[in-house]
Amino acid sequence: RTLLASGFHMPERTGVEEFRDALIRIGADGRIAALTRPEDDGYLERRRAADEAGRLDRLPAGVLLLPGMIDLHVHAPQYPQLGQALDVPLETWLTRYTFPLESRYADLAFARRGYGLLVEDLLANGTTTALYYATIHQPASRLLADICLERGQRALIGKVAMDHPGLCPETYRDASPDAALRGTEDLIGYIRAHPDNAERLVHPVITPRFIPACTDETLAALGSLAHGSDLHVQTHCSESDWEHAHVLARHGVTDTESLDRFGLLGRRSVLAHSVFLTAADMDTIRARHAAVAHCPLSNAYFADAVFPLRAALEKGLHVGLGTDISGGPGASLFEAMRGAVMVSRMIDSGTDPDLPAGTRGRRNGMRIDFRDAFYLATTGGGIALDLPVGNFTAGQHFDALAIDTEAPAGAIRLWDGLDQGEDLLQKIVYTASKANIAKVWVGGRQVV
Ligand code: GUN
Ligand code: FE
Repeated sequence: RTLLASGFHMPERTGVEEFRDALIRIGADGRIAALTRPEDDGYLERRRAADEAGRLDRLPAGVLLLPGMIDLHVHAPQYPQLGQALDVPLETWLTRYTFPLESRYADLAFARRGYGLLVEDLLANGTTTALYYATIHQPASRLLADICLERGQRALIGKVAMDHPGLCPETYRDASPDAALRGTEDLIGYIRAHPDNAERLVHPVITPRFIPACTDETLAALGSLAHGSDLHVQTHCSESDWEHAHVLARHGVTDTESLDRFGLLGRRSVLAHSVFLTAADMDTIRARHAAVAHCPLSNAYFADAVFPLRAALEKGLHVGLGTDISGGPGASLFEAMRGAVMVSRMIDSGTDPDLPAGTRGRRNGMRIDFRDAFYLATTGGGIALDLPVGNFTAGQHFDALAIDTEAPAGAIRLWDGLDQGEDLLQKIVYTASKANIAKVWVGGRQVV
């Protein structure tokens, strides 16, 4: 089919592209065959041909098309505690709240309810691709894959590996390195052989939770599994002072260095947070073509520092955005975009009003703007995952949102003559709410 639409995308970090009355031809495989603008050759002929064949769909006036958004860091089981327990440090948050909640996913009925509501909410918020941590449990992790396939969300899912008795409670940990490895392999096999996954909407992910939660045997076994495979890997890296110091004390090197020694850094590795990277760590991540999931909201609660995003981008690292549900209190990538811009301004200007200007921890040149944030949530996320998603160039999956700028219950307010071009996109990035998301497509299928 062909969609006649106006909207925005950002195939390159260098600039926003606006299109008006463009024809987006979507193949039977759910991928974009071509995006044709009115000034391109053959536009009128194509438009007429699609119309006469009854294969032309139009977005109504006031409705704009954006690429589907990509969340690089979601803890699916933590959705029930979204907005809770953000007043305690990471280690307390994990042991007092998070591990007990996650252990409840041994109960499949609980998992079905939680995962069903989460996937529905993320799709309605415009998240068309999510990189998920599940729990240690095999049946519930399989169920998350089933639900994503059924609802039509592009997803990458890992059974969480965590077996270190020093940190993980008896009631919620893999019984041994062998159990962690077998559970990981089981989920990979299940997702790859799933009868409804012929189009590979869902991918398996090797998921050592983070170094403190894993024994060296498990880290080594998962590194071997990743080596030479096309599997994705996800973990947390240099997230907080406590976490960072723990790894330094245990392995004598930074998280990045340690993960690299275990073979866990590759083209399809996504490192959440990565707030405390050294210059050498950034070089290593870049050399391995690995990616960082920037989680501005959760970093504000658990890192006590701001990820120097602009420095990472300028070094050429792959970076996308994550909500880190429930370390961050929002399910929407629009909120993550706003958070990314805001914290970048704070690290740039410094924040302590009692210090004279210029000495408040300023890190000049670290600002980003809404364009960078929009890039991270779309094309940046696609590149991080090595998947053809994030914009409307030919060959990409048609993953998209229709933003109704006039939805009465939505938060966008347009004014005649004020909202043109990039100003309009900026307004959408800053004010869009769930009620403005009128339709969502994944792989050409309308899912909302
Ligand atoms: N570090 C280890 N596990 C977690 C988690 O679930 N959330 C966050 N934010 N950090 C972690
Ligand atoms: Fe996390």
